Amino acid sequence: MADEVRKLVAQYFQLVDPPQLDIPPGNVLLRPIVQKALYERMFDESLTPLPPAAYRTRVLKLIIARIEESITNPEEDELNDNLMDALGMLVAQPKASSLELAQQLSHVKYTAPLQTSSTNDREVTTIESRGLILSGGTTGNRTWEAALHLGSFLASPAGEALVRGKRVIELGAGTGFLSLFCARHLGVQGVVSTDREPVLIENMRECVRFNHKYDGIFPFYPAVWDWGTPLEKTEELESFVEGDGLRFDVALGADLIYDTDIIPLLLSTVRDLFENYHVEQFIISATLRNEKTFQTFLDGCESNSFEVELLPFESTPSKMQTGFFHSTGIPIKTYRILKAS
Ligand SMILES: C[S@@+](CC[C@H](N)C(=O)[O-])C[C@H]1O[C@@H](n2cnc3c(N)ncnc32)[C@H](O)[C@@H]1O
Repeated sequence: MADEVRKLVAQYFQLVDPPQLDIPPGNVLLRPIVQKALYERMFDESLTPLPPAAYRTRVLKLIIARIEESITNPEEDELNDNLMDALGMLVAQPKASSLELAQQLSHVKYTAPLQTSSTNDREVTTIESRGLILSGGTTGNRTWEAALHLGSFLASPAGEALVRGKRVIELGAGTGFLSLFCARHLGVQGVVSTDREPVLIENMRECVRFNHKYDGIFPFYPAVWDWGTPLEKTEELESFVEGDGLRFDVALGADLIYDTDIIPLLLSTVRDLFENYHVEQFIISATLRNEKTFQTFLDGCESNSFEVELLPFESTPSKMQTGFFHSTGIPIKTYRILKAS
């Protein structure tokens, strides 16, 4: 029961599309203790931040419908009053249009896949619109499948070993999901989360207070970096200066290979990282939507004499995922890119 409730709660705070939610079966939902847990962990208004009201309404309606259809003995089986009251309050609220809903930015809380070695859930909160594909000229307003895939890899012992104690920089970070995960849970020395869009960098700064739960330094430094121009030097980056300049150990990137026009700029930035920022490896995950586009990237790596190594990390099929939920309909691969030896 605990696992089923945990999974539904994690999917709900990630704003997984309601038809894709794993709602526990009727015999589990009918248990008063389960209904109480669902109310307290998903719909109690004192929880902050909660998903948008329209999303909460859809999910609660589904859960209540599932409970009602499972009731076989009305004398004994009950529907929790708090759940019913929460639905009453939600449906009484003014409704936003579908366009407003699609563009609405909200807090999205991601929960990492379970690891046998850890007992506590590892969570990351971003600000984004799960429904936005392209807005204001950027694709960075939502966290993409490749980032959730790379996050799942980094959540594993082999992935964590690549970044623990390291100076990390992320390119085209979008919502900052991966960098926030590194800063909050993976023990990095520091992570610079970059993107070319200043508005995304502002959103990342705003996210800090939802992820930095304890006193002390939160080693997360958002900065504008438009490939082909110099990295924006902020005071926060001083901690990455060593000797003659900024130094990083590892670079990360998710879903950056989708347009052949930007591949040369991306490759020249990777070369810059290897040559001028001392980066030893670039870990990148790619959703293989278009073979030709990806081949252009591989050809570019070859002409720059970069070594490309496919990492042996496979996506967990959607139904078996325990966190960082994402579709695996289109293959996602993770590569390690190294400077020629
Ligand atoms: C498909 S999104 C991926 C975002 C994030 N990595 C993820 O997987 O969720 C591509 C990101 O690359 C950024 N980007 C595209 N071209 C860029 C450039 N020339 N310089 C810096 N960032 C760029 C976009 O702003 C966007 O945030």
